[in-house]
Amino acid sequence: MDSFAFIIHPVDPKRDVTRKYPLLGKLLPVDVIHFVSRFWPPLYLSHITGARSAATGKEIEGWLIAVPYTAPRMLRLPSREVYRKIIAAGRMAEELGAQVLGLGAYTAVVGDGGRTIAQALDIAVTTGDSYTAAVAVQALHSAAERMGIDLQQTTVAVVGATGAVGGVVAQKLAREAGRTLLVGRRRERLAEVGERVQASARGEVVLSLDINDIREAEVVVTVTSAGGNLVRPEYLRRGAVVCDVSRPRDVSWQVAQARDDLLVFDGGLVRVPGTVDFGFNYGLPPDMTFGCVAETMALTFEGRFEDYTLGKDLSLEKVDAIEVLAAKHGFRLAALRSFERQLDDAMIEKVKLHARTGVDDIVTG
Ligand SMILES: NC(=O)c1ccc[n+]([C@@H]2O[C@H](COP(=O)([O-])OP(=O)(O)OC[C@H]3O[C@@H](n4cnc5c(N)ncnc54)[C@H](OP(=O)(O)O)[C@@H]3O)[C@@H](O)[C@H]2O)c1
Repeated sequence: MDSFAFIIHPVDPKRDVTRKYPLLGKLLPVDVIHFVSRFWPPLYLSHITGARSAATGKEIEGWLIAVPYTAPRMLRLPSREVYRKIIAAGRMAEELGAQVLGLGAYTAVVGDGGRTIAQALDIAVTTGDSYTAAVAVQALHSAAERMGIDLQQTTVAVVGATGAVGGVVAQKLAREAGRTLLVGRRRERLAEVGERVQASARGEVVLSLDINDIREAEVVVTVTSAGGNLVRPEYLRRGAVVCDVSRPRDVSWQVAQARDDLLVFDGGLVRVPGTVDFGFNYGLPPDMTFGCVAETMALTFEGRFEDYTLGKDLSLEKVDAIEVLAAKHGFRLAALRSFERQLDDAMIEKVKLHARTGVDDIVTG
């Protein structure tokens, strides 16, 4: 049977360690978990079964493997040390028989976006970022439509536009947005991305180094590796639709609590074809997964065992191609979710009502 492996890592150290080791997770303080993670080898988490292509009926299997570093640890440690641990996890995937390896969350963010890791391994490697970008844009369409927002008539902001996912999300959205606002931290890199985005843009493309400027946007995608809590309530205009692709999230639940006029939701979630069992609870309903996992699975259904998405400059053509491939095998956009809950029509109607009737007393700057 064709097979894949996918690497994940703890996002919330206490909660995630408790999922695998209930007693240790309960007893160890967070800073001890951070410290110990450096010396822990990669962990076999589970065997994934039951995923079946809607197009061909082909069944695949897979494995979840954990790299024990937390996100802040991965950003702080020398890249070479982090690569070593991810490569060790990749070797475990090879021994299990996987033909393609997906790099989850910060294992794809760190260093050169998977290139060094792919060079060191014998099996194909992908970050899954292409399909993540495609699914985030699909989710944004669904949310904007339900909020009655026409992308062609509005400003769409991308926070983290200089990143791998952000850059290509910006290109894809700019093809239809009335105006596209790209927010980044590095002037030169932002200008470079801006040129690329402008090439396929329908409307004006504006660059900003100041996140406060997202107040101009009715629609916001945030996709950074800031490590959480980057987007504050005062940055967002009334009635904004906010798609948070980042893990850890850029938008904290306190923002959603403080602002009942905002539609904040997780970007990048899909339903898996067949009756999949991931064998491990990573915080989603059983038949749902992240776009990056789904990309790895779609390549396996197709038998395309090649390095697909690597590096920081993604290709729009590859994003469009994996979107078609995943749809062919039966991956579908999942219902919108916000802070571990599904957003139903009643909740969205409430947000719309608050957006229409609320007092706009948000302080800018
Ligand atoms: N939900 C999913 O399925 C899924 C899949 C893949 C990735 N992700 C998540 O998506 C996010 C981005 O991934 P990526 O691969 O695109 O990462 P990336 O290529 O490293 O890009 C990260 C972006 O974040 C910006 N950034 C970092 N720290 C920041 C801060 N403190 N303030 C403002 N901007 C900051 C970077 O700016 P500079 O260019 O200035 O450094 C860059 O634009 C990560 O959180 C990752 O976990 C989610």
